[in-house]
Amino acid sequence: MNKEKVLVTGGAGFIGGNFVQHMVSKYPEYQIFNLDLLTYAGDLVKHKEIENADNYTFVKIDIADREAVMSLFKAEKFDYVVHFAAESHVDRSITHPEIFVKTNVMGTQVLLDAAKANGIKKFVHVSTDEVYGELDFDPTTFFTEETPLQPNSPYSASKASSDFLVRAYHETFGLPVNITRCSNNYGPYHFPEKLIPLTISRVLNEQKVPVYGDGKNIRDWLHVKDHCLAIDLVMHEGINGEVYNVGGHNEKTNLEVVQTIIKELGKSEELIEFVTDRLGHDKRYAIDPTKLQALGWKPTYNFDTGIAQTIQWYLDNKEWWEQILNGEYRNYFSDQYSIK
Ligand code: NAD
Ligand code: DAU
Repeated sequence: MNKEKVLVTGGAGFIGGNFVQHMVSKYPEYQIFNLDLLTYAGDLVKHKEIENADNYTFVKIDIADREAVMSLFKAEKFDYVVHFAAESHVDRSITHPEIFVKTNVMGTQVLLDAAKANGIKKFVHVSTDEVYGELDFDPTTFFTEETPLQPNSPYSASKASSDFLVRAYHETFGLPVNITRCSNNYGPYHFPEKLIPLTISRVLNEQKVPVYGDGKNIRDWLHVKDHCLAIDLVMHEGINGEVYNVGGHNEKTNLEVVQTIIKELGKSEELIEFVTDRLGHDKRYAIDPTKLQALGWKPTYNFDTGIAQTIQWYLDNKEWWEQILNGEYRNYFSDQYSIK
């Protein structure tokens, strides 16, 4: 019997990479294709353990390359598409918005055209809570699937645009789609430009940790493995055309997150350096995941154990992140921050 084929875009990145590993080990009956351009944020070192698995195939393609994407879809006739590939860092979208439009908007449209032309069972578009804009500090307010989209950064505007295209391909062409909107993820293979791995790696190197503004902005943290379980569920059980919010009610100020990591590592809070705030910095994100819970999802990690395990993972996998810190990332850091 032919195996069903699952195309995962962005499977060399943080969340896509965790999802590829989850799918390859859980579903030997599927052939998992990892399509990735291997930008600064993607690497295949993380897939050493699965690279020779019978049910794993890697293809290096730019999702915005229409010809290459079309010919891959025509040749492989995918059953499922799970779309993670994106430019994902808000700060980079403030300095270079154009690549966000190309990859996140145009790339998504190419994939939608390819899926439409070749017939698929499901297209899962992995989006973000940032499309809803920001909440104020009233702890009783949450983003639901009905919250209007009010993106504030070029990154979230590009993600919202892609969400609208996905919705339109469902409404206009009947493409079987779902959109997931998750809160901030953390866990293994998180690229060290993002707050949690940046803090862990810098504290371990006794370097100052840049906290934007007063550190009181709030994010709602979810372990990446719980996000992967949510996407697996939506891919198989999601009702076509529906949006599902993903989040585990783990709201923390940025300062609390940084202090927790410093404490776990037994270092001094003198490492904290308050720096100029991010432009357009969203105050607070907080997800109401009721709709996804009704589909059968619940998170398996709480923040305290999740962050402790993540810190341990970074201690055990120094080679992976040190390689990144010693590469092109150095130039990014010195351009982005005024501290050393
Ligand atoms: P990431 O930056 O770690 O990985 C992105 C991956 O996409 C990389 O492997 C990169 O090489 C690949 N890629 C980039 N441009 C490409 C292109 N043109 N063609 C093919 N591949 C390309 O991102 P992440 O944090 O893993 O996020 C994955 C998805 O999840 C994104 O769509 C993001 O918007 C969404 N999301 C992220 C979070 C989070 O907290 N990180 C939360 C909610 C949603
Ligand atoms: O909410 C989901 C989103 O979470 C995803 O869609 C994005 O792809 C992902 O990058 C993440 O966006 P954030 O901007 O929330 O993540 P980041 O790690 O960049 O920042 C988290 C918070 O920490 C934010 O309030 C800004 C702050 N921060 C960040 C950095 C990099 C600092 O204070 N200092 C820093 O150096």
